[in-house]
Amino acid sequence: MGKIKKLGKDVLVKIFKMPEERALSIKRWISAAFRLSMNKAVVSREHLPEVLKLLKLKGPAAEVGVAAGYFSDFLLKHSDISILYSIDPWKTFDNDVYRDIGNVSQEEFERDYKAAVRILEKYRKRSNVLRMTSEEASRLFKTETLDFIFIDANHSYSECIKDFENWWPKLRKGGVFAFHDYINAEIAQGAYGVKKAVDEFIKDKRQKLFVTPCVWPSAYIVKDTSYAQLLLRIFKGWYRNERQ
Ligand SMILES: C[S@@+](CC[C@H](N)C(=O)[O-])C[C@H]1O[C@@H](n2cnc3c(N)ncnc32)[C@H](O)[C@@H]1O
Repeated sequence: MGKIKKLGKDVLVKIFKMPEERALSIKRWISAAFRLSMNKAVVSREHLPEVLKLLKLKGPAAEVGVAAGYFSDFLLKHSDISILYSIDPWKTFDNDVYRDIGNVSQEEFERDYKAAVRILEKYRKRSNVLRMTSEEASRLFKTETLDFIFIDANHSYSECIKDFENWWPKLRKGGVFAFHDYINAEIAQGAYGVKKAVDEFIKDKRQKLFVTPCVWPSAYIVKDTSYAQLLLRIFKGWYRNERQ
């Protein structure tokens, strides 16, 4: 199976003389379109921009927990979102508040902050870096105004619960809400209670939870959207484009 997948990219690169980056992007799109239409999660968070494109989500978005800006850069590069708010306090917390390998020294946080600003400045008005905590930033947004929220900040159970409470109301109906590192674990890398918080939150909501099948999974929900509505959104767009 792995060989077939690689072959797909190689065909595009070698036979169609396509740049490697473009070939990878087409491969991601095909995989996401197939999986989404089968009501399955995409294979990794790197395929989330394709989900946004397939669902025609182009409005404002937020990444909470940015570090050196790798994923904010990836999202802006591969999606059509109008603006991404990249939120992180870049501040060392006490170990009992934030036990994580991401909780580095203040000196390292300053370096990460500068790196994030530098990598995102090319997007000009599409990027807005907010140096503050998740909770502080959530107060800046009006109800149901964001198309996509990606949370990869403090992974403890109690902080994830707060993130849900603060950010879920800010998401538009039909938007995508995602948590990275959907696991429960007390390991060297940190304290993770993301899975417990997400599972509890979703229990009464009757919403489908999509979980990417990888070692550090992302879990996401398409807010108030049934499978039928999901299909309609994908295929209606295609149908309309065909006729234009
Ligand atoms: C795992 S890193 C983020 C990595 C980034 N999402 C990526 O994929 O490139 C976690 C980040 O969450 C930030 N963080 C921790 N507590 C936070 C809070 N309360 N609000 C916002 N960000 C927080 C940390 O400063 C750290 O930079």
